[in-house]
This record gives sequence, structure tokens and C-alpha cells, in this order.
Amino acid sequence: MKNLNNDISEVLVSEQDLKEINVRLGAQITQDFKDKNLLVVGILKGSIYFMTDLTRYIDLPLKIDFLAVSSYGGSTRSSGSVKIIKDIDIDLEGYDVLLIEDILDSGRTLKYVSNLLSARNAKSISICTLLDKPARRVVDLTPDYVGCDVPDEFVVGYGLDYDQKYRNLPYIGALKREIYE
Ligand code: IMP
Ligand code: MG
Repeated sequence: MKNLNNDISEVLVSEQDLKEINVRLGAQITQDFKDKNLLVVGILKGSIYFMTDLTRYIDLPLKIDFLAVSSYGGSTRSSGSVKIIKDIDIDLEGYDVLLIEDILDSGRTLKYVSNLLSARNAKSISICTLLDKPARRVVDLTPDYVGCDVPDEFVVGYGLDYDQKYRNLPYIGALKREIYE
């Protein structure tokens, strides 16, 4: 990853850290959902690497689905308006939904999505985010599962992008400011 590494100022979550997060959260979710009807819903595109790794550590029968919401585009700050671009296919009635997100920032995206899905008669809705930037929260939202906290820097890799790039970095790193400023 020599070419992409050059744009990173600091590695914040290493490949080994990511493995440990997936093992820990997978075991916790296995325990918490053992008597439930689990549907894992990933928020595209940022959650795909996390979701595919995490679900391999959830030792339960489960189903998966995806939804996509409007993104930041080429900016590093949320516009505040969230829109569904691709909806889930499965009827939620009777499911215990676990929403999978790459990073919780202002909280607007997850607030909007969890409100939308609870209005569709899911049995329960829980939230699992790989990363949390608690310093930047503007809406009241507490995730049920968090991989780890990160400082208020723009981070990329393991699914997270800047302008659709860097998703394939195998770790999470802070993007050099000169790339986006
Ligand atoms: P929120 O609605 O402000 O919580 O924003 C969450 C969404 O913003 C995430 O799903 C990410 O797509 C994006 N985002 C927020 N911070 C970062 C970051 O540091 N790097 C990459 N994407 C980010
Ligand atoms: Mg996202």
C-alpha cells in the first residue's frame, strides 16, 4: 500500500487492532442476540469491510441487507441533510435489526436511519459503529456497540473514503490535511 500510505499522517487503528475489535464485538453480539431474529443492515458504502469481517465472528444464523444514504461528496463535513439512495429489500417485521456503520460523527445519519427503520415495525433496532467521534455529536444518540473512539480528524481506510478513495487501505489512518484543505 505504498502509494496510499504516503497520504496518511498517522495510523490510528492497525490491522491487528481491527481484528481484535471484530473478535470482541462478534462475541458480544453473539451473546446478546442468541434468542433473537437477527438482521444485519450495513450502511453503504463505508461499512462493507467492517460488516463482512464482523459477521464472520457472529456465531448465529443471521440475514444481511444494505441501504445507502447520501454522502458527503468531496467534502469532509456533513451537509446535515440525509437521503435514502438505496433501500433495504427485506420486510423488517419481526426482525431484530443491527445497523452497521463505519463512523459516528454528528450522529445525523444514524438518527435518521434508525428512526426510519423503527417506523417499519422491526422488533428492535440496535446500532454498531466501528468508529466514534464523540466530540462531534450534535444529535442525541448512543450506539450499542463501538469498535473504538477516534480523535476529531478526517480518517480513511477499511471502508472509509475521502472523495471515494482510500477505502481499500487495510487500516484506519488520519488523512494528511494538505489532501483535503
Ligand atoms: P454523521 O451523520 O455526521 O454522523 O456522519 C456519518 C457519516 O459521515 C459516516 O457514515 C461517514 O460516511 C462520514 N464521515 C464522518 N466522518 C468521517 C471521516 O473522518 N472519514 C470518512 N468519512 C466520515
Ligand atoms: Mg458512511
